[in-house]
Amino acid sequence: MAQSLTLLGIESSCDDTAAAVVRQIDGRSTILSSVVEGQTTLHAEFGGVVPEIAARAHAERVDHCVEQALGLAGVSLSQIDGIAVTAGPGLIGGVLAGVMCAKGLSAATGLPLIGVNHLAGHALTPRLTDDLDFPYLMLLVSGGHCQFLIVEGPDSFRRLGGTIDDAPGEAFDKTARLLGLPQPGGPEVEKAARSGDPKRVPLPRPLLDRPGCDMSFSGLKTALLRARDSAVAEQGGLRKQDQADLAASFQLAVTDILAEKSRRAIDEYLALRPSSPAFAVAGGVAANQSIRAALEALCSGSGVAFLAPPLALCTDNAAMIAHAGIERFALGDRDDLSLSARPRWPLDSNAAPMLGAGRKGAKA
Ligand code: KG4
Ligand code: ZN
Repeated sequence: MAQSLTLLGIESSCDDTAAAVVRQIDGRSTILSSVVEGQTTLHAEFGGVVPEIAARAHAERVDHCVEQALGLAGVSLSQIDGIAVTAGPGLIGGVLAGVMCAKGLSAATGLPLIGVNHLAGHALTPRLTDDLDFPYLMLLVSGGHCQFLIVEGPDSFRRLGGTIDDAPGEAFDKTARLLGLPQPGGPEVEKAARSGDPKRVPLPRPLLDRPGCDMSFSGLKTALLRARDSAVAEQGGLRKQDQADLAASFQLAVTDILAEKSRRAIDEYLALRPSSPAFAVAGGVAANQSIRAALEALCSGSGVAFLAPPLALCTDNAAMIAHAGIERFALGDRDDLSLSARPRWPLDSNAAPMLGAGRKGAKA
């Protein structure tokens, strides 16, 4: 008989309140529903996520998202086998809102509970979308995350390196602000860069002279600020072409850093001799065409499959949490009502702690 497992997933670690229902039958997961309520407008005037506002919005909306996800999936709680909830890392007030909701449902229904690491949710997404085998290499690259992981199993991750300061999405957003472009900055900078000269402004490539896969992006914005100010001083303002050239120069610098560090990460990964090598990316920045093209070219040159899940599953969502929960469930893992919310929760407890926190709070 077919083995079937249906989990409700809840996510509230950052600025998206999300709930989803995922069903796995004989090892293949299908998303029955996925509801994501963003908070962009709530935080817009503050230029970043305000933890207290985020926590309150999560607490107010999480029940509603759960109800909607169950309704869209056409299942009732009695048809669910368990509840997976992000238990960290992230903004603690938000994580708590999701964990409290999940505990309430678990206490009321007797359904088993499983606390999922948000980063594991991202890292396991290629198995939800593409049925990828372990071990594969993963680059998480967003406004809050930037790290290379070898994903060895549902609960086994080796971190090869990550940012020591800003996440790349955060750098894209700051660049947009410096250039007078709207938020979120990534897509705007990418658009402006299309008509720009990427060689016009020489920007640094921090840490490329050092071995390993650690990265740094905060120096780029200082260099960019200087370049912008000197263009303004020389001409009395920033012309459209200057804006495009600065955006293109910045994008090329980020692409070069990510490509070179990915090359090193791929070498380390290939040394493990995986039978079907694969490199997957996730996170909002993975939507950038020039970054994606550079990573794709790198992979095809190394005989490694390149995978990028659809954008809605690359960015924060609860389907990835439900799927990660299913993978842990299948191993027999369970939590109980003593589950606690964790602001920090590194995926690889053997790796050195990350110094960078990212705009959306400490991640690991
Ligand atoms: O994964 P995500 O939705 O949320 C988290 O940060 O967790 O990523 C959002 C980030 C933002 O910083 C946004 O500017 C960036 O991803 N982003 C992009 C692009 N689209 C979104 N960065 C560069 N190019 C893009 N096309
Ligand atoms: Zn995330």
